[in-house]
Amino acid sequence: MSQKISGVKGMNDVLPGGEVEAWQFVERTARELFQRYGYGELRTPAVEDTALFIRSVGEDTDIVGKEMYTFEDKGGRSLSLRPEGTAPAVRAFIEHAVSNQEPVTRWFYLGPMFRYERMKTGRYRQFSQLGCEAYGSRDPAQDVEVLDFLWQFLGALGLSGVRLHLNTLGDDACRPAWQASLVAHLRGQQGTLCADCQRRLETNPLRVLDCKSEQCQSVARAAPDIHGALCNGCRAHFEDVKRLLGALSIPFEVDPRLVRGLDYYTRTTFEFIASDPVLGTASTVAGGGRYDKLVKSLGGPDTPAVGFGLGLERLVLLLRATGRQFTAPPELFVAWMDDASRTEALVRISALRRAGFRVEFDPRGGSLKSQMKRADKVGARFALVLGDAELKSGEAQLKQMAGGEPVPVKLAGLGEFLSAARATT
Ligand code: HAM
Repeated sequence: MSQKISGVKGMNDVLPGGEVEAWQFVERTARELFQRYGYGELRTPAVEDTALFIRSVGEDTDIVGKEMYTFEDKGGRSLSLRPEGTAPAVRAFIEHAVSNQEPVTRWFYLGPMFRYERMKTGRYRQFSQLGCEAYGSRDPAQDVEVLDFLWQFLGALGLSGVRLHLNTLGDDACRPAWQASLVAHLRGQQGTLCADCQRRLETNPLRVLDCKSEQCQSVARAAPDIHGALCNGCRAHFEDVKRLLGALSIPFEVDPRLVRGLDYYTRTTFEFIASDPVLGTASTVAGGGRYDKLVKSLGGPDTPAVGFGLGLERLVLLLRATGRQFTAPPELFVAWMDDASRTEALVRISALRRAGFRVEFDPRGGSLKSQMKRADKVGARFALVLGDAELKSGEAQLKQMAGGEPVPVKLAGLGEFLSAARATT
């Protein structure tokens, strides 16, 4: 026998029968909502020049340092599968000189990202992000619009129990001094830090603040707080973000240790964290923030920006844990008695489908019992048997699959009957 080939570890298939329908519901809801907020969809390739991620996400981050799928193409170029969507969006923003065409740009995207991570529930090597990026405004109203979108989106999906954690990382005027005092504090406790954080202390000291190990957390709790070190501009910005969130009745908690794993942030940073245990430790559903320096540092015009990325696998896990059904079962199942009724059955099925109804049949035909079993399995609401007698009389008995008396219908009036039945679901 030939050997089976399995899918790649950490990369999942999504099948119909409940799962893909949950994805489609999320995607549909996102697209509709983004339209209301005036965001247009951006589609970029899955592969970019490796330098794009090194210069944006940062060389010393876990994402670039350990997790990128990087390879050389046949022309000797170093390319990487995108680990996130912000850098490609900025690259496209600059490349198409979008800021020459409009002062404010609002984009969203939805697609696969790749990180070579240790796999567990909610953490995969290919995962899908829904994200948005808004360019052109420094105003806190823009930060809050992005947060409002996320809040409305989670609400539209019926997900409660996701909390907004908010922080600021300051900017070039105030962060360096705070970072220096943080490093001094961490050096004083160096022996207490975990092995990873001993290394981070040299490469990316802010990340020590969100290390999950107990010993590092106790060092982090005593560390100097960015909020005590903010310059006037950053303080006013943060205060206004909080005030506007209050005006929109969006609850949040300030988390001074929320630093994020990417280097490009300035000022506002945030994460939406779920409390449902179905996600295990992968409880951050969405994360993002402001990055006012990135467009310029990648060779574009001086353009402030803010956005978020949301992990769709995590969201779908949360949604499915609510027990909600997303499939749309057939409204009618048609069984045929014999070869003679097969053609007429197919003609009627096709006509009903053309009229917009969800209709199924078993292409294998077979006994009435086995066809009815199939009707039950696919969750049809009604089933209809077409045989010689029904075709001659133009009438049939509609079986209600959930139970109840059969309903006599005229075959010519089936569409009308199904329309009326739809109105009663
Ligand atoms: P991020 O925090 O790296 O931010 O990713 C955003 C979200 O993607 C996470 O909160 C999580 O839900 C999901 N995610 C990340 N890694 C994985 C994984 N291995 N498996 C499953 N889900 C994952 C960014 O990527 C930024 N680009 C967000 C942003 C946009 N900031 C500004 N604009």
